[in-house]
Amino acid sequence: MKHPAISIQPIVRPLLLLLTLTCSVPAADPLPLIPWPQSVKEGEGRYRFPEDVSISSPAELRNEASQLTRRLTTGLGRRIKAAAGGRIRLGISTALPPEGYRLVVDGKGISIEGRDPAGVFYGVQTLLQLMPPAVYASTTAAPVPVEIPYVTIGDAPAKEWRGVMLDSARHFMPKEFVLKLLDVMAVHKMNRFHWHLVDSEGWRLEIKKYPKLVQVGQDQPAWYPGEDPTDHSIKVNYHYGTFHGGGFYTQEDVREVVAYAAERHIVIMPEIEFPAHAMAMLTAYPEYSTTGKVPVAKSNHSPDLINVDEKSIAFLKDILDETMALFPGKWIHFGGDEAPKGQWQKSEFVQQRIKELGLKSENELQSWLFGQMAQHVAEKGRTAVGWEEITQGFLPDGAVVMPWLSMKTAATVANSGHPVILCPTGPLYLDSYQTTDPTDNQALYTGPFTLRSVYEFNCDLPEVEPAMRKNLLGAQAQLWTELMTKPEHVEYQAFPRVCALAETTWTSPEAKDFKAFQNRLAVHVKRLDQLQVNYRKLEPPAPVAWTPESISPADKRVVLEGRTRMDLVPGIYEAVPTYQAGAFGLWFDRMELVSEGKVIAEDVHRGFTGSNPQAQIYRLEVRENVSGATLRAQADSHEGTDSLGEVLFRRAK
Ligand code: ACM
Repeated sequence: MKHPAISIQPIVRPLLLLLTLTCSVPAADPLPLIPWPQSVKEGEGRYRFPEDVSISSPAELRNEASQLTRRLTTGLGRRIKAAAGGRIRLGISTALPPEGYRLVVDGKGISIEGRDPAGVFYGVQTLLQLMPPAVYASTTAAPVPVEIPYVTIGDAPAKEWRGVMLDSARHFMPKEFVLKLLDVMAVHKMNRFHWHLVDSEGWRLEIKKYPKLVQVGQDQPAWYPGEDPTDHSIKVNYHYGTFHGGGFYTQEDVREVVAYAAERHIVIMPEIEFPAHAMAMLTAYPEYSTTGKVPVAKSNHSPDLINVDEKSIAFLKDILDETMALFPGKWIHFGGDEAPKGQWQKSEFVQQRIKELGLKSENELQSWLFGQMAQHVAEKGRTAVGWEEITQGFLPDGAVVMPWLSMKTAATVANSGHPVILCPTGPLYLDSYQTTDPTDNQALYTGPFTLRSVYEFNCDLPEVEPAMRKNLLGAQAQLWTELMTKPEHVEYQAFPRVCALAETTWTSPEAKDFKAFQNRLAVHVKRLDQLQVNYRKLEPPAPVAWTPESISPADKRVVLEGRTRMDLVPGIYEAVPTYQAGAFGLWFDRMELVSEGKVIAEDVHRGFTGSNPQAQIYRLEVRENVSGATLRAQADSHEGTDSLGEVLFRRAK
């Protein structure tokens, strides 16, 4: 959804840009806002923020005023009182787009108007980002001096779904961590939390009518070599066999989390998986499984499927009823991914049911089951959501699809009239590596999917017809926890890549600029420090980057050069060409370090940017101190025209 009423301002104002180009006066640092707003107009002057602050707001914005008060008191040591005509004024303006806001800082103080309470809340988040990072501290500090630039900001999100999914099933994530993640999401104006509460390895949601779900199914034995994912002496892989911690959320816990999220304008979508990923559920209640027996295979891809008889369907409906009573949000996720159909194929009862229902296949039976449950939740005003595989049969009108395997399928589904939320395995599966450095990994899958690949992900799939673009609701990051055993591992994999996704989903594509984002992120991580997030430290900007515009398929040889931006000392350095987006990459064949016109180190071998991380690493031996060098990266062929990437440069470990 785009809002043409708000104009897009370039990140650096034209006058400043001209000055920079003509007289080498450094451009003023852009305001360190993430995600970048639609329109920013800086004024002349700064507003000195008083120690006693009065806030005026109508009753309907009590929550937003109190969220602001919380940060100002605990972070900046301000004394806040509510008063009419306060120095900070919060209000509603229906002229703005949904979730939009207008923030004005001038000599009179601060005014935030939002279309709705969510808009005001986002205006508050932007205001907080104009303040020192200490505003995010969790302990009361002595009053910190604060000056805010005069500015007028008009803003609204590009996408309505700006999501994060957390898997609390594979490894239980404590409630306190879930609250922290929600708080940090809100700082980034993210508004959907998909909570993966059940899977083969564990059932984490208390259902009063079926207490064995959390007694028996709470933690199915699972063993992951490398329980400590920072121990790279063990090959990253996973098997099953060892109990590893347990844990579940009581209904009381869930109510607390839902209320906490609502205060931050985050809707929680719970996921109750069927027909597969059901080992925990069917271990607790084998009477509802297709075989009627306790599952034997201890596997994430367990063959065990729920049955489709009346009592199993009633069981699912009961679970969904308790789930809906706990989660007031519009969306209920039914999973539906990776369902092997073997048990249904072998079951006489299931085959008979397929015939009675006039269906043609087990895939259609899965669709029928999805439809039954979708109708059940629709009776309570809710919308069913499922992973991509639910499209393999037929879908009820209005069902929302989360494509993860193929963005081509995503486009087809959107063109067929179903809303989609893009969750591509790859850039938005944050259990991927973040670099080719194997010691960096604290997760499961391959990669790398760098900060830039998340940033450059295009939520506006070009294959979707203009009339169907409204079906592209937005995008979501996935935090699967097979090998993220602890909250600090989840944080490491999530941040700062979630900061990039926040901007990818909020900011209009035309206003996105990765270099500008990196500059703002360098300040933003100080906020993450205050929020005590275990984020991955920022890498120095890559000396060499390429885009579809900077290379042409007609070029037989591509030579890319850039300054290393670090003084070099004797030792080994690594140049790592890293594909980040697009269909294909480049074939490099030579990397050189050049100083004062001379090649001082080189590595010559062929390596493709799109696969085999080891071949991609070029080792460059530096024999003496060098202050400033140029990295020259040479490719001898390339495929496709939409490749985008960087050559990262670092000291070898
Ligand atoms: C999935 O990753 N199985 C949705």
